[in-house]
Amino acid sequence: MSNNKILEIQNVKREFTMGTEIVRALKGVSFDVNAGEFVTIMGSSGSGKTTLLNMLGCLDKPTDGIYMLDNVNVKELSRDELAKLRNTKIGFVFQAYNLLPRTSALENVELPLLYNPTIGSKERRERAIAALEAVKLGERLDHTPNQLSGGQQQRVAIARALVNEPVMILADEATGNLDTRTSYEIMSLMQELNGQGKTIVFVTHEPDIAAFSTRTVMLRDGKVQKDLINDSRKSAKEALASLPATDDY
Ligand SMILES: Nc1ncnc2c1ncn2[C@@H]1O[C@H](COP(=O)(O)OP(=O)(O)OP(=O)(O)O)[C@@H](O)[C@H]1O
Ligand SMILES: [Mg+2]
Repeated sequence: MSNNKILEIQNVKREFTMGTEIVRALKGVSFDVNAGEFVTIMGSSGSGKTTLLNMLGCLDKPTDGIYMLDNVNVKELSRDELAKLRNTKIGFVFQAYNLLPRTSALENVELPLLYNPTIGSKERRERAIAALEAVKLGERLDHTPNQLSGGQQQRVAIARALVNEPVMILADEATGNLDTRTSYEIMSLMQELNGQGKTIVFVTHEPDIAAFSTRTVMLRDGKVQKDLINDSRKSAKEALASLPATDDY
């Protein structure tokens, strides 16, 4: 039977062994995400958000429990199959941008495509330019990260996450280093991508950021404390427009 569940986790646990101590970072987490949802994961520091996101992105495996990604049981995949799944289905965005320094925006965005032997250099360039245009950086192709603002660097990172046309975007505190205005700009972009059908799972500890999503899963001490649909989601574009104008000095 087919369904539109992009991911499904059942009683997922993740334990880390630290010498003689066992850290139980996830203590049995279950939820599903349907295609087209925009889910924020919230919770205080140490509640397991990054551990969960790394698992969802196949960067880490559960100690116990089931993870189905696009109806495939991740546990049954070989290392190569897993890497392929990750590269084709998932785009990552991190708090620290993780761009290569001294490397142009264009080359940074081309990078994920280098692992795909079916894509030649011309197509690689065209797709990277299209992804940068989609995040409104078409005029900044040759700039290196240190020649870009924080918000622009994050948009390059989002273009890099998009270039493989993933079904899902995973973001960990992607607005954590940005001021309010730039955060709202990034959220406006996320809402636009979500409107185009991308499924988004976005970790944040800021309630005003979560207000832009359609659903919030609240973690507490490695467990789901709340899982709520957001019926009154805010428009980031409107929130941006209502911010006071920046002062000109
Ligand atoms: N590699 C690791 N080895 C040992 N313990 C770990 C490891 N990764 C995470 N932990 C522990 O697991 C728990 C959850 O960590 P996690 O990074 O998922 O929290 P978080 O919710 O992302 O916090 P923050 O908001 O500070 O980023 C913490 O107690 C942390 O110390
Ligand atoms: Mg974290």
